[in-house]
Amino acid sequence: MTATSDADPIRAEQTATWDAVSAGWLAWTGEFERAAGAVSAELVRLGGVRPGQSVLDFGTGLGEPALTAADVVGPTGEVVGVDLSPRMVARARERAAGRANTRFLVGGAEAAPGGHDVVLSRWALPFAGDVPATLRALRSALRPGGVLAAAVWGPPAEVPMIALGFGALSRLLALDPPPHGPGPFALADPERVRAGFAAAGFRDVVVTGMVVDFRLAGPEAFAGFTLDVLPPRLRGLLRDRFGDERHPSVRQALAEAADGFRVDGGVRLPSRCLLVRGARP
Ligand SMILES: C[S@@+](CC[C@H](N)C(=O)[O-])C[C@H]1O[C@@H](n2cnc3c(N)ncnc32)[C@H](O)[C@@H]1O
Repeated sequence: MTATSDADPIRAEQTATWDAVSAGWLAWTGEFERAAGAVSAELVRLGGVRPGQSVLDFGTGLGEPALTAADVVGPTGEVVGVDLSPRMVARARERAAGRANTRFLVGGAEAAPGGHDVVLSRWALPFAGDVPATLRALRSALRPGGVLAAAVWGPPAEVPMIALGFGALSRLLALDPPPHGPGPFALADPERVRAGFAAAGFRDVVVTGMVVDFRLAGPEAFAGFTLDVLPPRLRGLLRDRFGDERHPSVRQALAEAADGFRVDGGVRLPSRCLLVRGARP
């Protein structure tokens, strides 16, 4: 299986999943970016993005960190965001409206034109079915000396914003732990990430960490967020069991999971990500 195969079942599933949740993510993007924006800013800093440069954003979703980078490269630079999900890309294009230096393409790493100064990626690499092939394709999309800076999530126990809801629903549905494979926590081991980047031909690979300070209005808001961005597979299982994924038992299980994170009338869900930087020789 390669990163360029259109018949790849992982790519097909990723496309369907992210298409299905794009509206939910859009509804929460303002609140999410209040904390996640710091990661985009840090990736731009790590990548050394400067005015006039050409930047590729892999797995851009609704357009981050592409839009943050677009403000830095300015009118003499350009940003290209790629994503498998046509609905994510359509929404990213809407959010970028008026920025002449930014465009978005539907596709994976192979869809990206080459010669970029910097490749950025926020929380997308763990969803690539073939991570080594994807990293090699991203290295090829860089000019010699160009830099890749990417964020991936740390281990689930340190990422309550994402893992808490999945954990609560897995307990409610008595699900087995998910099999190894693409998912938010597929690249949570810093040493394996460093070795994977080095094996893909990046040099001077450095992995650092950062905690993202997510805050929501309260446990009920956390339940609402989790339900709005719920992948279709879990949505289907909840409907089979409760008739409606927004059944009070489901909302209660999610709100209870967030109860221990209450502060100042809201909930605070500090979540760890790994930041990886490497250069194309
Ligand atoms: C967690 S979202 C991150 C979106 C955005 N970068 C952000 O930080 O908000 C992961 C994104 O990666 C995209 N994706 C998953 N596998 C991909 C692949 N092989 N090639 C390109 N995009 C992919 C998904 O469609 C989804 O939009």
